[in-house]
Amino acid sequence: MTATALTGIGLLVTHDPEVGDLRDAALVIEDERIVWVGPSAQVPDADDGTDMDGRCVIPGFVDSHTHVVFAGDRAAEFEARMTGQPYTAGGIRSTTIATRAATDDELLGHAANLLAEMLAGGTTTTEIKTGYGLSTVDEQRCAQVAARLTDEVTFLGAHVVPAEYADRPDDYVELVAGPMLAAAAPYCRWVDVFCETGAFDVDQARTVLSAGRAAGLGLRVHANQLSPGPGVQLAVELGAASADHCTHLVDADIDALAGSATVATLLPGAEFSTRSPYPDARRLLDAGVTVALATDCNPGSSYTSSMAFCIALAVRETGMSPAEALWAATAGGARALRRDDIGVIRLGARADLVALEAPTPVHLAYRPGVPLVAATWKDGQPLSA
Ligand code: NIG
Ligand code: FE
Repeated sequence: MTATALTGIGLLVTHDPEVGDLRDAALVIEDERIVWVGPSAQVPDADDGTDMDGRCVIPGFVDSHTHVVFAGDRAAEFEARMTGQPYTAGGIRSTTIATRAATDDELLGHAANLLAEMLAGGTTTTEIKTGYGLSTVDEQRCAQVAARLTDEVTFLGAHVVPAEYADRPDDYVELVAGPMLAAAAPYCRWVDVFCETGAFDVDQARTVLSAGRAAGLGLRVHANQLSPGPGVQLAVELGAASADHCTHLVDADIDALAGSATVATLLPGAEFSTRSPYPDARRLLDAGVTVALATDCNPGSSYTSSMAFCIALAVRETGMSPAEALWAATAGGARALRRDDIGVIRLGARADLVALEAPTPVHLAYRPGVPLVAATWKDGQPLSA
């Protein structure tokens, strides 16, 4: 085993409630784990070391909601939105045509490029959804591709009803909850449903989520993105790990989330790219809801891979403090994935770390659009920017 010490850390943000933030800190990595955290002056001997020269070190970002397995481009749709066209779930079908036409290697290459972009931007864990195949064979292909890139794969056959099932949506739900789920599940940890007008109603969503649970998958829900609706209540009722978007909430939704283990995952990149009103993080946080932040990286509603950008948006537009936004983008994402080994810097946690070219993480929102990630460690392995 090789021990590597990172010394001279100006500010270490641990997200370990017993330790908090440490100034003039150091940590030691052995293999893929953190084995020591403390004052730089007391760092134990290690095989090699790096002086962080006063930089700030934070846990690697946990992007708990992405759709990076796809082909094609919807820049024209974005351009039209910026001149007044509304966003609708229907655009998913155009990406489905391109995704079905792509080879496995093309899908893998494109998704791997996006993951490399994410890693360079400080994201060390990425959840990846299927959802642009929408046939048994194509959803299985998308799940296989995703599983080559992450352990956090989500089956989203219930993303939208594909064109060939447009006049018999319940047959499509039967397919998703039956053969399509069976084909994809071996590659997945999670099942998700887009519960929204224009996608799946609450009964259809319940059918798919219940089948996913019976197949051994954990639950996630795209909920209350475009309008108020039953998605959040369904997520809480079924014990989903996460209700994602949470843009249009009534008081009863907030109360339900606050009394539950379901994380509210906010995706402000989607509101940015669809020019829509942002979710109210302040209302959620003040009610005691656990909040995560993620990119929603996808070709339609949010084509950003940058967690730093989402932090800046969350601070500027959703009422989060910089510290709350950083927590949501790291420890919050870990909660949304029901993980306790990431999003935190403590003994035994994975050595997934980011060094910022900044004295404090406030700079992530204070200097939006500036590439502040100086170095990333994933599983203890360094990647310099
Ligand atoms: O999370 N809401 C559903 N799915 C994606 C959008 C996908 C698309 O437009 O291609 C989202 O925003
Ligand atoms: Fe999404």
